[in-house]
Amino acid sequence: MENETKKVMISGIQPSGELHLGNYLGPLRHWPEMIDEFDCYFFLADLHTITVRQDPAELRKRTLTLIAQYIACGLDPEKCVLFIQSHVPAHSQLGWVLNCYTMFGELSRMTQFKDKSARNADNINAGLFTYPVLMAADILLYQPDFVPVGEDQKQHVEICRDIAGRFNGIYGDVLKAPQPYIAKVGARIMSLSTPNSKMSKSQPEGCVFLMEKPEDIARKFKRAVTDSDTERCVRWDLEHKPGVSNLMQIYASATGKSYEEIEREFDGKGYGAFKPAVGEAVVEVLRPIREETGRLLADKAYLEGVYRAGAEKAEYIANKTLRKVYKKVGFLPPAK
Ligand code: TRP
Repeated sequence: MENETKKVMISGIQPSGELHLGNYLGPLRHWPEMIDEFDCYFFLADLHTITVRQDPAELRKRTLTLIAQYIACGLDPEKCVLFIQSHVPAHSQLGWVLNCYTMFGELSRMTQFKDKSARNADNINAGLFTYPVLMAADILLYQPDFVPVGEDQKQHVEICRDIAGRFNGIYGDVLKAPQPYIAKVGARIMSLSTPNSKMSKSQPEGCVFLMEKPEDIARKFKRAVTDSDTERCVRWDLEHKPGVSNLMQIYASATGKSYEEIEREFDGKGYGAFKPAVGEAVVEVLRPIREETGRLLADKAYLEGVYRAGAEKAEYIANKTLRKVYKKVGFLPPAK
């Protein structure tokens, strides 16, 4: 009963990098709430990932590890549909059809294409160019109400709406155009080594990975850049003390303490006591996730069961949309 009234939401995640503390304390932590509120589809967008060259063994490993990590972070596969994009052929199939309803000009205007082709000048492949079309297919197959997006993906949801609108303009109401959903982002965690840029896997010294060993995490926090002001006290001041404020934010997210409580706790103690304390708090937050991920990765049969069931559920919904689209464009149905 409840399911019937829930709005549908879909999100794809590229298995292209390792998850880090910024991902976790940012959006990931809010996913379990999202699952309670919406009918959620989450998939590992492996088809998208090969638009940039990948090491095959690495991609396989990362896809599996990410599934385990998401479950460990609270994405309960009983409560949402968790699957791998390449296991549901309808994504590629609808992607092809939509290619024929997407204009060269509109794809050329996508900022992410321009950025990525500048960064991968030796591999500006057609997949990179038509990436937004595949993403539109990912979305439209499930007729969702919302797609949670960050700033960088908003343009992709807009083109998805345009493509759906164009298709519907020709064939009637076939594809449901979703709304972008600005998801709760949680804390915006900055790099430990350069606190004025976001924590990112491309700067590993300033980045704490979810699977990192406690001693390595502790070391990174001890080395975290604080600020060169002379007072050397733990005080919230984003503008003048970005390093300390970032650590305070991490500590606050990890422990649930307020900034005032943290200031009081470290009053007169300086950075020497503060930095290791933040490290320890983070180690404790990540410990259960790391242990659970390890346990899940050791249970291949369970993980296979999860992504097999996920693909089956996804495929059932996706194929309904695909069949409708095939019919509308005039494909002769296969003989029974
Ligand atoms: N393009 C998204 C990203 O890089 C991943 C993605 C692929 C996606 N298909 C999607 C996100 C469908 C939402 C819905 O982050």
